[in-house]
Amino acid sequence: MQSLRLSIIITLLGILLSACGEAVSPKAAPKINSNQKPTEPTTSKAQSDTVAEAVDSVAKGEKLFQSHRCWFCHNVTDAPPKLGPNLTRVGATLKKPALVTWIKNPKAITPDTKMPDFVGTPAELDQLVDYMISLK
Ligand code: HEC
Repeated sequence: MQSLRLSIIITLLGILLSACGEAVSPKAAPKINSNQKPTEPTTSKAQSDTVAEAVDSVAKGEKLFQSHRCWFCHNVTDAPPKLGPNLTRVGATLKKPALVTWIKNPKAITPDTKMPDFVGTPAELDQLVDYMISLK
């Protein structure tokens, strides 16, 4: 009899304690949420701004590829190569420094190349390189 009463007390204590635990946790949960909320939009806005800038740069680079007639010698599709190699997946094979040199001063890599130096601003060169990197 004694042990039965003891186990009832222990069970009741257990129920009480778990009820306390539950009472505490809902209070704690909104506190964490309200702490996170102010920072969340700032982070995702900063991230989407960076993504938007990168997309913008690639789009500008693609336009430069057209206006500077890179397409005259390079395909960016799987069509047969023209005078220069296809750049369809050049972003997967060449790293940024190599792309900068290729576009700025191709003769530094292949002295007798027919590829002309890119004439444009450093920002335009960056955009063209970003476009090349996006080709994968
Ligand atoms: C008159 C033709 C011609 C034009 C125009 C031209 N290229 Fe090239 N390009 C080449 C040739 C040819 C090569 C390969 C090197 C060689 O054999 O001389 C090359 C190589 C490259 C490479 C290295 C590719 C690799 O896989 O190694 C890149 C990148 C490149 N060109 C980008 C450009 C960009 C960007 C433009 C426009 C600003 C451009 N090219 C304009 C002819 C041209």
